Amino acid sequence: MSYDDEEMVVTPWEVRGKVDYDRLIEKFGTERITDKLKEKIYEAAGERHILLERDLVYSHRDLDWLLKEHKKGNKFILYTGRGPSGHTHIGHLVPWRFTKWLQERFDTRLYFQMTDDEKFLFNPELELEDVYQYTYENTLDLLALGFEPEDTYIIDDIKHIDLLYKIAVRVAKKVTFSTARAVYGFDNSMNIGGIWYPAMQAVPAFLHSEIVGEKTPCLIPCAIDQDPYWRVTRDVAEGLGYYKPASIQNKFVPGLGEGGKMSASDPMSAVFTTDTPKMAKKKVMNAFTGGRATAKEQRELGANPYICPVFKYYKFLFMPDDEDLSDIEKRCTGGDLLCGECKQILAPMMMEFLEKHQAAREEVKDRVHEFSAARLRDEMKR
Ligand code: TYM
Repeated sequence: MSYDDEEMVVTPWEVRGKVDYDRLIEKFGTERITDKLKEKIYEAAGERHILLERDLVYSHRDLDWLLKEHKKGNKFILYTGRGPSGHTHIGHLVPWRFTKWLQERFDTRLYFQMTDDEKFLFNPELELEDVYQYTYENTLDLLALGFEPEDTYIIDDIKHIDLLYKIAVRVAKKVTFSTARAVYGFDNSMNIGGIWYPAMQAVPAFLHSEIVGEKTPCLIPCAIDQDPYWRVTRDVAEGLGYYKPASIQNKFVPGLGEGGKMSASDPMSAVFTTDTPKMAKKKVMNAFTGGRATAKEQRELGANPYICPVFKYYKFLFMPDDEDLSDIEKRCTGGDLLCGECKQILAPMMMEFLEKHQAAREEVKDRVHEFSAARLRDEMKR
């Protein structure tokens, strides 16, 4: 069976089959980001963004409401996160970079949740020591993107449970097991920690309101796979005296194999931020492409960039200039650019990116504590 025939599964824990992004909007009940809404975002942000321009950030909940509130002077906070189950891959950086742009353009506070509890509970292979270690490693990746501590609070679920528990129990009381089963697909084999966990992922959307004692709008940038969490979070929000969080959702950066899945069990399927540049080059050079069986055929008929992970890497991350991207696209479809040559363009870009990113990771190593949400304990008490 080819991946095209495989049934699409997109949950916070699994992405399988060919992702149909239109169908996900319908299935999850989110809304498409229209051109009109894009203009409103740009007007408020004072700048365009290529992920929006290219429809790679494409879906939302209540973003128009959030922008209206912003216009009225009702400032929002940002909330995003990471489940530390392994090293960060290149795809995780997409919502984080976009979050940084939002933070800069809207001058907002960011709450970043590290869900060590989630990954410990959902992954039988991971011990607590593993998720703690990945929390640290993933934090370096986040900070390497240039966030500043004044406005960035990293919440570590286990370490900072005292800040979260009061809100979590209030959320949990409002969500029945039958809702959790329907939304998350839990069956009888799920441990009770997993059933509880969605309450924890709701908390940071409400934390700021709790700290300042006034309900505050919240915007959650993430990939579309996290949406089931927001459905439940939004359902309980108003009953608890908070605004429903808004969200803005991106598509997935594909893996490097056919079908685009990034698999933890296949390290060649994804470029990790901790890969050596040499290893990353090897992965790029081995990638699946939209090429033809032979060079002759490709010169005659052209290739298909729309199914090609190499082209998607340009689109998501490495070619912000539309002219450069369209040049690659034309040369690819026209048969002038063979896949080997195309990979030879991406490989040095990827290597340079990793060298810089890894140097930035080194630099932030002694600053991790500055970002800790432990600081919120004082704010809470005030
Ligand atoms: P996690 O660790 O699976 O993913 C972290 C973020 O990256 C997004 N993402 C991707 N984006 C583009 N291309 C991909 N291939 C790709 N794979 C994953 C995810 O949607 C996510 O935004 N439960 C969460 C952690 C979490 C969280 C949050 C995420 C807690 N609170 C609030 C977003 C917003 C998780 O395991 O994410």
